[in-house]
Amino acid sequence: MDIKELRINSNRFKQSHDEICKIGATAGGGVNRVALTDEDRQARDLFVKWLKEIQCNVSIDEMGNIFGERTGKHPELPSVMSGSHLDSQPNAGRFDGTLGVLAALEVLRTLHENDIKTERTLFATNWTNEEGCRFPPVMVSSGVWAGAIALEKAYQSMDNGGVTQLEALEQIGYKGTTPAKNWPLHAYYEYHIEQGPILEKAGITIGIPKGIVCLHWYDITIEGQGDHVGPTPMEVRRDALCCAAEMILKVKGVPDRVGGGMVATVGEIHNSPNSRNIIPEKVHFTIDIRSWDDDQALKAWTILEQDFNEIAECNGTTVQMAVTSQVVHAPFNKELVLHITESAEALGYSNQDIVSGAVHDASYINQIAPAAMIFVPSIGGRSHVEVEHTDWDDCVAGANVLLQSMLKSANEIWFYS
Ligand code: HGY
Ligand code: MN
Ligand code: MN
Repeated sequence: MDIKELRINSNRFKQSHDEICKIGATAGGGVNRVALTDEDRQARDLFVKWLKEIQCNVSIDEMGNIFGERTGKHPELPSVMSGSHLDSQPNAGRFDGTLGVLAALEVLRTLHENDIKTERTLFATNWTNEEGCRFPPVMVSSGVWAGAIALEKAYQSMDNGGVTQLEALEQIGYKGTTPAKNWPLHAYYEYHIEQGPILEKAGITIGIPKGIVCLHWYDITIEGQGDHVGPTPMEVRRDALCCAAEMILKVKGVPDRVGGGMVATVGEIHNSPNSRNIIPEKVHFTIDIRSWDDDQALKAWTILEQDFNEIAECNGTTVQMAVTSQVVHAPFNKELVLHITESAEALGYSNQDIVSGAVHDASYINQIAPAAMIFVPSIGGRSHVEVEHTDWDDCVAGANVLLQSMLKSANEIWFYS
């Protein structure tokens, strides 16, 4: 058959999506499948089962990354991979990450049932803990695989309950033995929901990112002095939470100060002892800065560092600032972007280029191999919330673009420039 006519099986794709979304399903219609929890384990087990049903070789590496391999005619050539992540934010959406892992599986299922062997070997991958919300940093396991993060450092990351990432991997039985080290890739494609409003607003089905913004994560700890809220006069207080409040407003204001085109967010805060009649003694909060321009993001941080030191001094508190993660922006491989564009055009899907404001495992894979992504619209631009949704026709469109793009790369027996 002409492989250009090949399409994924929409019903099977939807059945698998519905089935895996029962794991960690929330009353609000989302999923709660935080990295390395038992829900994550159950979803992983299902993914492994499905890979084995189509005779894929399945390997699990030291970071719990799961690789389903469909061997090509030339296994000695660099392979073609598509992957994403099954872990979710707490009480989040059914599409973020899951759609990409299942679409990669669906591509292999489609080739399997049509007995199509590609020149190059294909992989469908689940990256451990892309979200980084339980065990920072974000995209930690593709980061280890790409050689950007040390395995031991990743293992020692701790959640708010004092459990290390290594202990959690062992608890769910996904600390594999395969070294978490990359092998030569000819092409990496990641299929994902946009998680923003652009495609829906433009009425476009397929987004083709030119790349992903940089991401900088910082952890700020302020120490003041706890005291009784009643007898302690205002002028002698060293209130850690008031200090944090001033700093947080500086985070909100810094994008305008460095010239826009950037986002800066404080998403997590811990106040202790967090009692209504004790002056806050210690506050920890996080900062997430993103921009297409890495230097601009660094400039924003320099400004905030200065501001924070001044604010701490004025409030009689101390401040510790830790750099938790700095991932450079990822400009994608132009030849893979062209494959995606040609595939979307041939399939008759409207398409446009875009920049990814969300980061993805492709951010790290792009550092060691040609990488590119395929987006489909998020309804209302909503994501990382239970109401996250994408029309199923759009989900199928993106999966067909992934299938056709992977086939182009998998049947090339030359190398990209
Ligand atoms: O934070 C992100 O952009 C991704 O969803 N982890
Ligand atoms: Mn994601
Ligand atoms: Mn996410």
